[in-house]
Amino acid sequence: MKTHATCVKQETMTVLLLGGSGLIGSHCLSILLSDDRFEKVIALLRRPLNISHPKLVQTIVDFDKLDNYASDIKADAVLSTLGTTLRKAGSSVKFTKVDYEYQLKVAEIAKRNGAKTFILLSSMGANKKSVVLYSKVKGEVEEAVSKLGYNKVVILRPSILIGERTESRPGEAVGQWVAQNMSFVFAGPLARYRGIEAITVAQAMVNAVQKPYTGVTIVENLEIFEWAKN
Ligand SMILES: NC(=O)c1ccc[n+]([C@@H]2O[C@H](COP(=O)([O-])OP(=O)(O)OC[C@H]3O[C@@H](n4cnc5c(N)ncnc54)[C@H](OP(=O)(O)O)[C@@H]3O)[C@@H](O)[C@H]2O)c1
Repeated sequence: MKTHATCVKQETMTVLLLGGSGLIGSHCLSILLSDDRFEKVIALLRRPLNISHPKLVQTIVDFDKLDNYASDIKADAVLSTLGTTLRKAGSSVKFTKVDYEYQLKVAEIAKRNGAKTFILLSSMGANKKSVVLYSKVKGEVEEAVSKLGYNKVVILRPSILIGERTESRPGEAVGQWVAQNMSFVFAGPLARYRGIEAITVAQAMVNAVQKPYTGVTIVENLEIFEWAKN
């Protein structure tokens, strides 16, 4: 009897990445480009990146006119690492534009264009009822994206990020120093606040695209370490 080896072609995906020039986004980009399960990576950016790769499509947009680029916002899955700080944005209105409006707009357009999965980088403490603007906006965008009807929404809520940054962020630097040099502080009940490497968060986001979850899943800080493993 003859046997025939069956060659099953692995399904590949197109992903759209928001924030590909940032700390976590740049790690996501490298991981996505080196992973054969992703055949095309669309980076939606406001200025070009100094890299080229056969799988990478850099789409430069004016984030205030996202509707004009609707036909480019088309992928199987979207990963968003977009975000700013109140200090960088200069006002609460401008902060909200980046952390809420831009992300939600892309999520709406991509959903209309057939995307099934949205992976959202949020933050520990996200809560739409918070009196802290940052946490409130994160909570609001989580809720808004969750209501769009995606098959799968995964929301990651990391604590302080550890990673090299070119710009100076004094508050974050103090947090990073404590996270790296006083790790004993994060034993016991404070363990859930421990700092997390940007690359670990990025790997967890990419892994989340492939996980067979449906509905909305929130991944808290300590769980992100697990999601990064497989
Ligand atoms: N830092 C922390 O400890 C921490 C902890 C938990 C969660 N988070 C959240 O994690 C997310 C990513 O953090 P990160 O440190 O990777 O951020 P990041 O390095 O500051 O990168 C942010 C990304 O957003 C883009 N962006 C910012 N303002 C924009 C604007 N006005 N228009 C278009 N694009 C804009 C940046 O593009 P350009 O390069 O063009 O500026 C960059 O690609 C953020 O939402 C942050 O709130 C951070």
